Amino acid sequence: MNEKEPIGVVGVGWVGLVTAACFAELGHPVVAREIVAEKVEALERGEVPIHEPGLPELIERNRERLTFTTELEPLLEPARLIFVCVQTPPTHSGDADLSAVTGASEEIGDAEGKALVMKSTVPVGTGRTIHRGFPGLAYVSCPEFLREGTAVRDFMEPDRVVVGADPGDEWAADAVAGIYEPLGAPIVRTDVSSAEMIKLASNAFLATKISFINEIANVCDEVGADVTEVARGMGMDERIGPKFLNAGLGFGGSCFPKDTQALKMLAGNIGYHFQLLSSVIEVNELQKRRVTSKLTKHLGSLEGKRIALLGLAFKPDTDDMREASSLVLASRLEGEGATVVAYDPVAAGVASALLPTVEMADSAMDALDGVDAAVLVTDWPEFGKLDWAEAAGRMGNPLLVDGRNFLDPEDLFSAGFTYEGIGRPGVEAEKPAKAS
Ligand code: UGA
Repeated sequence: MNEKEPIGVVGVGWVGLVTAACFAELGHPVVAREIVAEKVEALERGEVPIHEPGLPELIERNRERLTFTTELEPLLEPARLIFVCVQTPPTHSGDADLSAVTGASEEIGDAEGKALVMKSTVPVGTGRTIHRGFPGLAYVSCPEFLREGTAVRDFMEPDRVVVGADPGDEWAADAVAGIYEPLGAPIVRTDVSSAEMIKLASNAFLATKISFINEIANVCDEVGADVTEVARGMGMDERIGPKFLNAGLGFGGSCFPKDTQALKMLAGNIGYHFQLLSSVIEVNELQKRRVTSKLTKHLGSLEGKRIALLGLAFKPDTDDMREASSLVLASRLEGEGATVVAYDPVAAGVASALLPTVEMADSAMDALDGVDAAVLVTDWPEFGKLDWAEAAGRMGNPLLVDGRNFLDPEDLFSAGFTYEGIGRPGVEAEKPAKAS
């Protein structure tokens, strides 16, 4: 017999599916509603529509506690707490598109004794607006801090859980806090607007850290310092910390680009120019393009050159191509007249629709065959295990630009490569690359 609180989840995207599966793992019966019927059918057949390590096993293990449906009724009936996990993509103006959030709130309506628990990332003020529209429905802001690729672990071992509610909705905040209690993480109880801001500010700060170290890397490139050493030394200061100090081709994905833009717009809409965030976004845009100059330094014009991209997804362990640096980079290289061939262990299918002119290879070695240069775009672990000496032999010209500072320059040098990282001194192969 299951005595744990039944939970409703609205929206079975990345966050919704991980949330539903993890609550089931904690012993709760979960009813998850998704409007796309094919997704529900696939989940019922046991197919998991996204690539997220550990998630298929979790869903399989908790099948009897997990119900997927296209209707809202089967969820509203048992559950007091309804976790809204729908998308809030950017609009043309850069503001968050709240149509799915508004739609879900209207469907749930003024259900007395129930609480809408917002997991979607929304602008500050959204909770108060929804609450004004449906005063009988309790409202809790419980933002998510999951990372794609490690979402299950992030859910089960959070650094903190944020639970925001306004006066009158304490019962709902208590209930949400109670559900997370077994995880043993600190629970930040606050008001709705502050909870909404904690989420946006956290993502904006992490994005700032990345753009900051990328700018340091760009200066390192000019002065001969090694940004990986700089980050190591900086990160030992507890006030700074070592995480999110990896310089590279910039941040992508469905969150940082959208949320930094949304926070900038939120501030702009009330007349405040968020100068720092504007720079963070601009630095990131330029960072994706820096590789071309590293290639031309060795190859001269890229016209007619064949370049391999190793990795396409915005980060490893995901097939997500949203705002991936590879999209900008591939187009940039093609704009310079190069032919682009790419390999990604899981994102090639999604990527081929977005990059129709890029040739997709079946393996890293195949991608490297005869190319003038390769760019490591995504730090997939398998690239660390590649036989780089063999790769050098397969390539027309063994030049590698390591866009994630993932490989050891000395190893690549021993394998016969000319190596360029981002903000670290490169090494030139003994037989220099031929410039055309
Ligand atoms: C991010 C946040 O880390 C999560 O806490 C948050 O819940 C999520 O957004 C969200 O709002 O939904 P995610 O986008 O999945 O998670 O991935 P991250 O691991 O944060 O990486 C984002 C991007 O930054 C990637 O392109 C990654 O390659 C890049 N990055 C990350 C760097 O360039 N350098 C670093 O040091 C770290």
